[in-house]
Amino acid sequence: MQRIVHTNHGEPAEVLRLEALSDAGPLMSGTALVRVSAIPVHPGDLLGVSASPAFGAPPRIPAGGRMPGVEGVGVVEALAADIGQSTRIQVGTRVAFFALNGAWSTRVVAPVQLLITVPDEVSDEVAAQMLVNTLTARLAMRAGHNALPEDKREDVTVIQTAANSAVGKLLTQLLIEVGVHPILLVGSDASAEALRAARPNLPVIVTEHPGWKDKVRDALANRSVYVAFDGVGGALLPDVADFLASGGTIISYGSLGGAVTDIRSIAPRALTIKGVSLFSWQYEPATVRSADLAKALELARNFPNLFPVAQRYQAGEYLRALEHTGRRGKTGMVLLAF
Ligand SMILES: NC(=O)c1ccc[n+]([C@@H]2O[C@H](COP(=O)([O-])OP(=O)(O)OC[C@H]3O[C@@H](n4cnc5c(N)ncnc54)[C@H](OP(=O)(O)O)[C@@H]3O)[C@@H](O)[C@H]2O)c1
Repeated sequence: MQRIVHTNHGEPAEVLRLEALSDAGPLMSGTALVRVSAIPVHPGDLLGVSASPAFGAPPRIPAGGRMPGVEGVGVVEALAADIGQSTRIQVGTRVAFFALNGAWSTRVVAPVQLLITVPDEVSDEVAAQMLVNTLTARLAMRAGHNALPEDKREDVTVIQTAANSAVGKLLTQLLIEVGVHPILLVGSDASAEALRAARPNLPVIVTEHPGWKDKVRDALANRSVYVAFDGVGGALLPDVADFLASGGTIISYGSLGGAVTDIRSIAPRALTIKGVSLFSWQYEPATVRSADLAKALELARNFPNLFPVAQRYQAGEYLRALEHTGRRGKTGMVLLAF
């Protein structure tokens, strides 16, 4: 039994350590003990460890250390005494969990309302990563829809950066399902190759290549763009802003590049940068949250290829998992197995 913790903020490979997990003790009211099978290593988990401004306020480190991680998959091992036999969650139920405050552990204690029963046809590899990224893509999608001028909501073309990221691929799927035409930007040939194989009918453009902006203009063929989705930030954001019609909006959901952005070109063209954060998902109306969770399960069931695994590591190999998570050209999530 192990867990991965840090007691200081800093470079993840330097401050995280693997340690023995002590006994959970008696379960508090309304909770379940889950034996964790796998957790995904999100770039955002590492931003929290390093207290990057891209995470938001630095997460508090409790006495005894802080575990990263908010989601994963496992099997219920025990239930608090006040959870009745009639509940949908029983000992032995395979569950996905979100949003826990610390998931990188052999066992986690979770309020039962955070547990989602995983259908047999959804693998652990898919279930472990189906919530955070899908819910983020749904938030971004809604923000994009709301940002469109009311008379520009038909035959919509958008630009997406980080299109081969896990969130990016899910966002593309959601956009296509409602008839939007995305132009996909990636930063490496490896990502372009993976994406062209998966989406042969969509334009995929590598922003590291000279002339990439001409290719975007060709793909646009004079169509106006009112919304772009960006997961990279840095110098790419103003470059993408250049393609927006006056009054357009960039939906910013991440800063994969880790660089600061020059926003001087935003005001003169009356553009908007709208941030979306999964931290705000809990404040969405209950019906919207239910629909988002149902969508995550639907995609997990019907499109497991949207949830590829870059590599699965054992907890003891966590340093290799950290390095792999930040690799350019990576396709899919890095998983840690406990
Ligand atoms: N707003 C929220 O609440 C929320 C929730 C979840 C995730 N996010 C954010 O969404 C973004 C995507 O997350 P993810 O888990 O989907 O990512 P991911 O799957 O780990 O993304 C992998 C891809 O990111 C690109 N990348 C990696 N390092 C980069 C760099 N330095 N500059 C530019 N591109 C880089 C690479 O593509 P190329 O080969 O194309 O460069 C790589 O293939 C992250 O910024 C993450 O923090 C935000």
